[in-house]
Amino acid sequence: MKKLVLLLLLLLLLVLLAACAPQTDETPAIPGMGMGMGGNGMMARHHATIPEAYAGLSNPIPADENSLERGKTLYTANCASCHGDGGMGDGPAGAALAPAPAPVAHSSQMMADDYLFWRVSEGGAEFGTTMPGWKALDEQSRWDMINYMRALGAGTVTPGQGMGGAAYDPEIQAARQAEMLADAVQQGVISQNEADTFRLVHDVLEKYQIEHPEIRNNGGNATERETAVLAALVEANAITQAQADAFREIHDKLGAAGLMP
Ligand code: HEC
Repeated sequence: MKKLVLLLLLLLLLVLLAACAPQTDETPAIPGMGMGMGGNGMMARHHATIPEAYAGLSNPIPADENSLERGKTLYTANCASCHGDGGMGDGPAGAALAPAPAPVAHSSQMMADDYLFWRVSEGGAEFGTTMPGWKALDEQSRWDMINYMRALGAGTVTPGQGMGGAAYDPEIQAARQAEMLADAVQQGVISQNEADTFRLVHDVLEKYQIEHPEIRNNGGNATERETAVLAALVEANAITQAQADAFREIHDKLGAAGLMP
């Protein structure tokens, strides 16, 4: 019985997401918010169904020193021009692209192995973005780069110096987020109170995922995973149930307004 209720809730959530995401892409609710940080379809990509050939894959390459070294060389040569040396999405070749290159140091913390491997392998063709596909590089190389992007975001490696772009800096990421939230408050999308709650939960969420990398691969799609992480945070008393619920709601409001993934 309980399972059935959960299933129904999940279905409802999926229907809601399906109803919201494409609108965000094509008709930004707020003029001028169609590009930049949000409103560029990132939410739709993050919640897309992972093709069967990739769904459920997990990284077979341990993120040891050798892998990170290989990843660094490959990433700096192939990816940093767009994604930036530090994975902040600010490489010189990416400056004029719309959507902009993802801040992979950050998004690789929350997205699962299968999602990242799919996106690195196939690129953005099916989404109409300029992200190239990298199937010409062997599988190990692709996993090495995934290990490296995550290490950039966890702050455990020093970025290669090659292409430009800021070193990963949680403060820059936080400043970008603060700016986005201030915009959202100013535009009346959310209240100041909601902005504060969002920030608090987001910080705890990110820290938790860096400390518990296994949570990224707990199966299911991005929505189910997010639910699982929030439940774990409530369980650990890191946030309250009310804060977890509010976070989902605020996340959806920001997404619907094209302000964030
Ligand atoms: C020509 C510029 C360019 C290059 C070079 C490039 N990317 Fe991208 N990448 C993008 C853009 C633009 C996006 C955002 C659109 C998308 O997700 O399709 C993106 C998205 C991604 C994503 C998805 C992140 C998310 O949060 O959804 C990953 C992972 C990624 N790139 C990894 C890489 C790796 C690894 C390399 C090097 C092997 C690389 N990219 C090279 C432009 C580039």
